[in-house]
Amino acid sequence: MKKILINLFSHPFKKRFLRIQDNQKEGFKQFASPNSAFRFFFDVDTNTTNVYEHTALFTLAAITSGNVLELGTYIGKTAIVMASAFPANSPRKVYTIDTFTREIGDESSREKHLFKNISQYDLCNKLISENKVADKIEVLKGTTDQYAESLSKIPNIQLIFVDADHSYEAVKRDLVNYAFILEEGGYLAMHDYLYQQDGVKRAVDEFVTTHTEFKQLFLLGSILVLQRNKRMH
Ligand SMILES: C[S@@+](CC[C@H](N)C(=O)[O-])C[C@H]1O[C@@H](n2cnc3c(N)ncnc32)[C@H](O)[C@@H]1O
Repeated sequence: MKKILINLFSHPFKKRFLRIQDNQKEGFKQFASPNSAFRFFFDVDTNTTNVYEHTALFTLAAITSGNVLELGTYIGKTAIVMASAFPANSPRKVYTIDTFTREIGDESSREKHLFKNISQYDLCNKLISENKVADKIEVLKGTTDQYAESLSKIPNIQLIFVDADHSYEAVKRDLVNYAFILEEGGYLAMHDYLYQQDGVKRAVDEFVTTHTEFKQLFLLGSILVLQRNKRMH
């Protein structure tokens, strides 16, 4: 399955932007059917990331060989997707950070039905263990600002998925704090790039203007993927 996915995505990697055609959507739906290895997409439905974005993240995790960092876990879906791309017995880890503020019965949550009987943190850990990737994921509770220093010491980070606070100021801080942890050649995936002009998009556009070693590769769904190149001196 991993081989098929890499072939599928080798073409878009050469292009700057990728648009999914309607006839491709049908193939994806079958591929991600409830009986496939990707059943976890359907176990708990959320409004966060879609199956195309999951496939892009899976592929990025599959073509890299280092550790992965995720800012914004929610209930663990994308962390599970990326960890599932690691080979069996691999020492690779996904480090994922979230404030995990949603407690049981949280009425303020947009998806309050999810937290009727279980907290966000417990639901996340339940899904991780049901999907048999508990040994591959380190769940960290706190703000992304709080972990910036300790996580900068983790070696060999080859993929970072940024999906926490989407405000301009917060994304700008996440980029400054984390983008340089990435190994050269590694991928930086920014979720909701298109969601608000004045949030992720503005922060990323400004960042790449000043840090020219980060090159935009493609946009899939609302994920903009950049690659950190060798710095020219
Ligand atoms: C869009 S969700 C992440 C979805 C997840 N990546 C997925 O698709 O499965 C954003 C998450 O970021 C968390 N968050 C927001 N601000 C944060 C911050 N400053 N530090 C850490 N997590 C934060 C929220 O609690 C929320 O769960």
